[in-house]
Amino acid sequence: MELQEAFVVAASCLGLFSVCKALFKIVTWIWVMFLRPPKNLKDYGSWVIITGSTDGIGKALAFELASKGLNIVLVGRNPSKLEATSNEIREQFSDPKVETKSIVVDLAKATGGEIARIIEDGIKGLDVGILINNAGISYPYARYFHEVDQELMENMLKVNMEAPSWVTKAVLPGMLKKKKGAIVNIGSAASESPSMPLYALYAATKS
Ligand SMILES: NC(=O)c1ccc[n+]([C@@H]2O[C@H](COP(=O)([O-])OP(=O)(O)OC[C@H]3O[C@@H](n4cnc5c(N)ncnc54)[C@H](OP(=O)(O)O)[C@@H]3O)[C@@H](O)[C@H]2O)c1
Repeated sequence: MELQEAFVVAASCLGLFSVCKALFKIVTWIWVMFLRPPKNLKDYGSWVIITGSTDGIGKALAFELASKGLNIVLVGRNPSKLEATSNEIREQFSDPKVETKSIVVDLAKATGGEIARIIEDGIKGLDVGILINNAGISYPYARYFHEVDQELMENMLKVNMEAPSWVTKAVLPGMLKKKKGAIVNIGSAASESPSMPLYALYAATKS
């Protein structure tokens, strides 16, 4: 009988612990998503560097962060798109003035060492507080893994996986020196389990 009671107490404690753990997760999520006061992103530094900032999510992030008063380092492979984006930001955020700087680099073509060197040179003297590794590529249409041609496969591995590591390598030392900084890697729900059918390589490179 005593053993039975001890078992019931132990099982109840375990159950209570599980419920508390789940509740704690829910409360933390509500706090983070809705209640926590926003951070002043300028506290990290006055500049943010965003790869793939000439289109889509990266461009939208550049405008959003410029609206918070951050200066933007745009990274892309197309000089005219970089110039156009840079001009748009400067025109829209002229008072208070937001500064921009463009770094031209093809993340699929340059070697890792070249990427790191180009980024290092490009951000020299800037107080970079935030890095957003956003540039990413996918398939133009769904296909089986064995149908992905060699060039697309190489480019995807380079842009989605290698480039963020090399860009981070170039930016991180400055953050370590001033003991603050934020690095955001843009992932994808495609990498969540179960993985995205017909996008196996993309899903893997975004994990
Ligand atoms: N869109 C979605 O539904 C979705 C969903 C989940 C996650 N994501 C992720 O979000 C990120 C942005 O996606 P997006 O849809 O906004 O992409 P997007 O509209 O195609 O824009 C991609 C950006 O990356 C740049 N880029 C591409 N290849 C490059 C290279 N070799 N070198 C330098 N820059 C290069 C592009 O420059 P160019 O203008 O020169 O091409 C462009 O500025 C990616 O990491 C993607 O995996 C997207």
